[in-house]
Amino acid sequence: MSNVLVTGGAGFIGANFVHYWLQQYPGDRVVVLDALTYAGNLASLAPASRNPAYRFVKGDICDTSLVAALLHEESIDTVVHFAAESHVDRSISGPGAFIQTNMVGTYSLLEAARAHWLKGGKTIEHRFHHVSTDEVYGSLGADDPAFDEQTAYAPNSPYSASKAGSDHLVRAYHHTYGVQVTTSNCSNNYGPYQFPEKLIPLMVVNALSGRSLPVYGDGSNIRDWLFVEDHVRAIDLVIKEGKVGETYNIGGNEEHANLDIVNRLCACIDEVFDADGSLAERFPDAPASSGTATASLITMVKDRPGHDWRYAIDASRIQNELGFEPAHDFASGLRSTVDWMLANEDWWRAILDDSYRSWIEDQYETR
Ligand code: NAD
Ligand code: DAU
Repeated sequence: MSNVLVTGGAGFIGANFVHYWLQQYPGDRVVVLDALTYAGNLASLAPASRNPAYRFVKGDICDTSLVAALLHEESIDTVVHFAAESHVDRSISGPGAFIQTNMVGTYSLLEAARAHWLKGGKTIEHRFHHVSTDEVYGSLGADDPAFDEQTAYAPNSPYSASKAGSDHLVRAYHHTYGVQVTTSNCSNNYGPYQFPEKLIPLMVVNALSGRSLPVYGDGSNIRDWLFVEDHVRAIDLVIKEGKVGETYNIGGNEEHANLDIVNRLCACIDEVFDADGSLAERFPDAPASSGTATASLITMVKDRPGHDWRYAIDASRIQNELGFEPAHDFASGLRSTVDWMLANEDWWRAILDDSYRSWIEDQYETR
């Protein structure tokens, strides 16, 4: 039995992880620490709220004494660290929050963990798992080999630089103090509970509302996509079977150009509208409701500054050493995501408040 502290558990991947863990390990205690920034959403944790093994604490990971108190009072033996500022575009317009949460926040957690688990030379059995990104490796050309665990760090955005800094801190706390850490660097996730500022959920919300689908630059940028449930399962494997002090790359082996993704998503939306006449009543502003192709909304817009061209993960290490294989391919994951968003309209409608609208409007104005 484990007592697990999940930072950032009200965010996209964190919430999926909490639901997975409570189901997979019903004997474990799961404590979520989340500051509920714009990206944190208690509605994403609603399915866990009646489970007596689950507790939610609203708080900032930069508050070292709060973290220390939680580690002590809940006898935490495992920290799974998701909390972060995670959106590249926001890191370009306001890098400060990224340095604060991603670097100072990770430092704060490591300090609290070191003091609690390694006090007075006596080590309590523990694990600190740090959730990171493939963006720390920089950008690839068309013929470059995919990122493996030996690829040199070359972050290009304030977001990826702040994640790279946090990865280095985690590594240093292992080598210097003996904190029992693992790190995973994952490619682009998609699926339930993703905030509609990221490519796939933004496109779905806009398509259903009849708004333009903004594709940056020429749409040729490539990402490697992984369904979020596969990511949380991979994290579980790393925590349970991974070697302390090591890093594991996680990817879906699904490289696709952005414009292809958006076109596939549009085709998927057209298909579900064709098959279900009630959708036209629910979403009258969607072009698919009047038989117009959703792809007619695609609009090429100004590129993201410093836009990384290609990410690709070489996942052979986690595959060979821990036996990880994604269970979802991109076609089935995309369809599940569209179905989830259609079935959970209340979840995303509640997010479309004034602050969301002003962020999106700013994005359109500056492009
Ligand atoms: P998200 O933005 O959806 O959620 C982040 C969560 O962290 C939110 O609930 C937010 O309230 C919380 N948070 C932010 N600052 C905090 C603070 N100071 N203290 C406590 N909580 C705070 O992010 P996500 O997409 O779920 O990403 C989770 C983690 O996975 C991040 O570390 C990210 O770098 C990493 N990652 C994401 C992806 C992806 O495709 N989304 C891929 C690889 C790695
Ligand atoms: O690679 C892992 C990373 O993936 C994570 O570490 C980040 O937290 C996560 O946000 C994601 O970063 P990206 O920048 O790749 O994701 P985003 O969804 O913002 O964009 C995906 C691609 O789509 C990227 O090339 C930019 C492009 N894009 C994005 C948006 C929001 C568009 O063309 N139009 C858009 O409106």
